[in-house]
Amino acid sequence: MKITLRVWRQKGPEDAGKMVEYQLDDVSPDMSFLEMLDVLNERLIAEGEEPIAFDHDCREGICGMCSLVINGVPHGPERATTTCQLHMRKFKDGDVIDVEPWRAQAFPVIKDLVVDRSAFDKIIQAGGYISAPTGSAPDAHSIPVPKPAADAAFEAAECIGCGACVAACPNGSAMLFTAAKVTHLGLLPQGQPERYDRVVKMVQAHDEAGFGGCTVTGECTVACPKGIPLETITRLNRDYLAATAAGKKKS
Ligand code: SF4
Ligand code: FES
Repeated sequence: MKITLRVWRQKGPEDAGKMVEYQLDDVSPDMSFLEMLDVLNERLIAEGEEPIAFDHDCREGICGMCSLVINGVPHGPERATTTCQLHMRKFKDGDVIDVEPWRAQAFPVIKDLVVDRSAFDKIIQAGGYISAPTGSAPDAHSIPVPKPAADAAFEAAECIGCGACVAACPNGSAMLFTAAKVTHLGLLPQGQPERYDRVVKMVQAHDEAGFGGCTVTGECTVACPKGIPLETITRLNRDYLAATAAGKKKS
């Protein structure tokens, strides 16, 4: 396949950045999108040019590192997949493909296609944990968990922290990510002691990090490679209201 790539190149956080065009004449449909970028980078290095910086790690759809906006869509045209699991067979011979970084106020560009997602770490640090006595591991069935709660918690725990929800949101909100973490812990018995403190602290960290407010446009859940549902935001709102209603904070 012949592909024209238009890639966002930005030398550093202070650089203005611009789209740069590259022609690729021998792209295999079986390549992943990141392998196609690897091939381009090998060529750029051989030509003495700076390779394109982009984030990746597992390349198996589980770590959340890959983060490209492809033709205006976070993680590209295939639904419910990460950039690393996207293959060139999803494109046609002769296609022109725009590749950009996540764009959000809370995710500043570090270089080219790499953004700083440490704002997510701050939200997790604010409450994404439980307190448990140390010692030997408890028996697996010592704390019964109702099946519906276990299933919903597991579904929320699938969030890989990639940030596509933020990149897709017109408000640059990270509410789907935050709600996934709040839901994951808040549905389990082990997460109850900090449940109401957690939601208040995580939402506060979310706002302080510069993410926008949620207006339930739903773009986040469409872009999410793990299908985290909007109901998780409903759960977050319910816990947040319970924690703060009438100025009385539960703890
Ligand atoms: S909610 Fe979905 S899109 Fe957002 S960080 Fe988690 S996995 Fe990525
Ligand atoms: S590189 Fe790990 S999810 Fe894509």
